[in-house]
Amino acid sequence: MRFLITAGPTREPIDPVRFLTNRSSGKMGYAIAAAALARGHRVVLVSGPVAIAAPQGARVVRVTTAAEMYRAVRAEVADCDVAVLAAAVADYTPARAAKRKIKKREERLTLELVRTRDILASISRAPRAYLVAGFAAETHALERHAREKLARKNCDLICANDVSDGRGFDAESNQLKLFFRDGRSLALPHETKRKLAFRLIKILEELKEKRKKY
Ligand code: CTP
Repeated sequence: MRFLITAGPTREPIDPVRFLTNRSSGKMGYAIAAAALARGHRVVLVSGPVAIAAPQGARVVRVTTAAEMYRAVRAEVADCDVAVLAAAVADYTPARAAKRKIKKREERLTLELVRTRDILASISRAPRAYLVAGFAAETHALERHAREKLARKNCDLICANDVSDGRGFDAESNQLKLFFRDGRSLALPHETKRKLAFRLIKILEELKEKRKKY
């Protein structure tokens, strides 16, 4: 099968030397890409800026901003069987990026932010031939938020992880709870991102086998 996987953070420029970003390391998305390759699938990895090496065999599309990630995913998605959006995309971006470095003057500086486009929601509208898995990083009310996201973004699967107290970010291990469209949920054991990624790929293979149309 052909997998489209997003990973890592995005960077939203404030001026030529500053940007807004988040704590994503890309490790979960890269582990999913590696597991898909190891299981014999083809992988396009759309990656934000990360410090880790891409798995051998993946076609990597490097992007920086949420807008670039949106364009890259939209350009690739029609050719995939399964889309796994594990990237931590910025929800807001500066309304304008200053052309020149912002000099300090006043005691307070207000940045105006505007919403980015939701990549996941934009690719999951039916009818579609590919399966869509999204991620949810939650600090509280994980199940309620994950189920709400699953429905609102019309996903087949949401992989939720608890990021309270900084958990999940830049770690080698993680804990995921999966929520499926039919109401089922599955708590995966706390284990390495590598092992979790293999479990996830097998679950996606089964789901894809069961349903050919979405
Ligand atoms: N996502 C995306 N495009 C965005 C923002 C998020 O594709 N502009 C995707 C992420 O890759 C992830 C999922 O949406 O798969 C979860 O994103 P999250 O930011 O947690 O969800 P929101 O619906 O923005 O939730 P919240 O209400 O928590 O802000």
